[in-house]
Amino acid sequence: MLPLLFVSLSLPLLTSAKTPKSPLLQTDFPDPCIIHHPTNNTYYAFATSSNQKNIQAASAPSASGPWTWLSSVDPLPDPGPWTSGPRNYGMTWAPSVISLPDSSGWVMYYSAQLPANSSAFHCVGAAVSKMSILGPYEPLPSPLACPLSKGGAIDPSGFFDPQTGKRYLVYKVDGNSLGNGGSCGNTIAPLRNTPIMLQRVNETDGVTLIGEPVEILDRDERDGPLVEAPDLWWDGKRHVLFYSNHCWSEEGYSVNYAVSTDGVEGEYVKMNGTNGGERALVMTEGIGDGFNLSAPGGATSFWDEEKGESGIVLHANCREGRCLFGVGIGVDEDGRVYVD
Ligand SMILES: *[C@@H]1O[C@H](CO)[C@@H](O)[C@H](O)[C@H]1NC(C)=O
Ligand SMILES: *[C@@H]1O[C@H](CO)[C@@H](O)[C@H](O)[C@H]1NC(C)=O
Ligand SMILES: *[C@@H]1O[C@H](CO)[C@@H](O)[C@H](O)[C@H]1NC(C)=O
Ligand SMILES: *[C@@H]1O[C@H](CO)[C@@H](O)[C@H](O)[C@H]1NC(C)=O
Ligand SMILES: *[C@@H]1O[C@H](CO)[C@@H](O)[C@H](O)[C@H]1NC(C)=O
Repeated sequence: MLPLLFVSLSLPLLTSAKTPKSPLLQTDFPDPCIIHHPTNNTYYAFATSSNQKNIQAASAPSASGPWTWLSSVDPLPDPGPWTSGPRNYGMTWAPSVISLPDSSGWVMYYSAQLPANSSAFHCVGAAVSKMSILGPYEPLPSPLACPLSKGGAIDPSGFFDPQTGKRYLVYKVDGNSLGNGGSCGNTIAPLRNTPIMLQRVNETDGVTLIGEPVEILDRDERDGPLVEAPDLWWDGKRHVLFYSNHCWSEEGYSVNYAVSTDGVEGEYVKMNGTNGGERALVMTEGIGDGFNLSAPGGATSFWDEEKGESGIVLHANCREGRCLFGVGIGVDEDGRVYVD
């Protein structure tokens, strides 16, 4: 079964200063996801459009590296007929790749720009690759989630729930795209909601929707303009929802988490991090206090086979844009998620 069930319960060094993190990949690689190939012992990471790719890919023999940017691969050569088109670089965002049961293939969830008159908005779609984790992924003819009157949808992430054996997709309703201006378009009243939605999908194909999406989180005044980049993690007992808040282009951007003890549908309670700040788990902090990261966000959890512990990949500012970083995660005796 999935190794997500095994969680490191070792104690964090509560008072220790954190060791500075170096980029795993020295290139612009925002909103990363990571997946371990089940048979060939390779990690793959995928990221938002940049470097003349609709979606970027990288590979590594272990999660900590060394990572190689795959220059000859664009896993999503065409984001689909519902989008603004294949070579509209910069407009296809936040991929999440899952493997389907019985080696029947791979699904990539992503968000892409709508065409023509709706081009101010993005929606969430899916593409399927039967043969290779690197694609080419073939897009479905229509998006999976496209709540245009609420601002569209972005930041999808797939989740297989070990507690129920059900498969889900989480994403953000992009309410700030309809905002009245300010930071990320949404700090001038009246502020828009940016709800995080949970949608059940078919366990076998990953793309057939089952039932209606349910809201599992939203922004509040302490989050600033938005919450986004949701990612679900099962800590062995509870569902942990990682999310980013504040504006991605500012130093306030950070990784946070909320916890549900009552199943995948919630209720999720926003928790305070262990590294200072009211709620952030990973935030802008220099040498001596933190990881020496600036505007970290877009976190995706994974199981690190080699270390035998869970981790997250995320992006943070670097000379090239937003680089790929990795951070270990665990749960302490008091049920707090920690990072190391
Ligand atoms: C801290 O991060 C900056 C870039 O953001 C980098 O130039 C510097 O070398 C880092 N310091 C350490 C000790 O890693
Ligand atoms: C798109 O906008 C143009 C110009 O405003 C308008 O003429 C056209 O009818 C619109 N098309 C659709 C499908 O709304
Ligand atoms: C691992 O999988 C990738 C993608 O399917 C493939 O390109 C690569 O050749 C595989 N490597 C090995 C050693 O099997
Ligand atoms: C998922 O799809 C498969 C194949 O079409 C089907 O057999 C199965 O019943 C579906 N599962 C659910 C829960 O709808
Ligand atoms: C987080 O910290 C704030 C401010 O100290 C506090 O009001 C809130 O109750 C805390 N939340 C949790 C879940 O501990």
